[in-house]
Amino acid sequence: MPPEPLPTRDWRDDARFAAQFVRAPVATASVWPSSTALARTVADAALRPDGPRRPGGPVVVELGAGSGAFTVELARRLGGRGRHLAVELNPALAHHLAERLPTVEVVPADVAELPTLLAVRGLPAVGSVDVVVSGLGWSATRPGRDDSLLPVVASTLASGGVFVQFGYTFTRWAGPARALEQELRELYGEVTTSPTVWRNLPPAVVHRAAGPVRT
Ligand SMILES: C[S@@+](CC[C@H](N)C(=O)[O-])C[C@H]1O[C@@H](n2cnc3c(N)ncnc32)[C@H](O)[C@@H]1O
Repeated sequence: MPPEPLPTRDWRDDARFAAQFVRAPVATASVWPSSTALARTVADAALRPDGPRRPGGPVVVELGAGSGAFTVELARRLGGRGRHLAVELNPALAHHLAERLPTVEVVPADVAELPTLLAVRGLPAVGSVDVVVSGLGWSATRPGRDDSLLPVVASTLASGGVFVQFGYTFTRWAGPARALEQELRELYGEVTTSPTVWRNLPPAVVHRAAGPVRT
């Protein structure tokens, strides 16, 4: 039987996300979900043909999936191959995402628990993930701080694994954004940044960091 078609973007998902911003602005970190153009740029970086290869397909973990802007695009490209986990703290958004995308393993939890969340799903906390896609804001990644999430993410990746994080262009010169780029350069062998995606509100760039450096 052919796979169920994936849902297309719906204004009600955008409205649901905006309502959660009103409820929890710091954690939600954005008034509006990412655009389809940004989701495509993120998925291009995450699932490049020269990226990690694994028989049966890659293990992809999404952090801060929200209303699923990146989730739908990643699921479309994976086409049922590999494993696709989507971690989301907000229970209302996580619940809706799980209903909307039954093929994705939605994890309603805090990314601060990432190693445990992976381990209980049969994925060793170190070196078991091929691609991590982050839609998180600074309040959850905490770049440049002692409790930064970025080294934890890097340790979950297999050698040759890829981490993708977007950031808003207008904040690129702020302290946390610069700390993020600096940390990525320390943690990975190769870091590249996309041109600005203008068809997003606000415009954004996508960082791709590949090959976690083992110390
Ligand atoms: C900027 S939104 C991005 C949502 C979606 N990826 C997009 O691009 O439209 C950040 C998302 O991360 C979630 N989030 C924030 N802190 C989190 C945490 N500690 N653990 C898991 N998810 C978190 C928020 O609830 C929100 O849905």
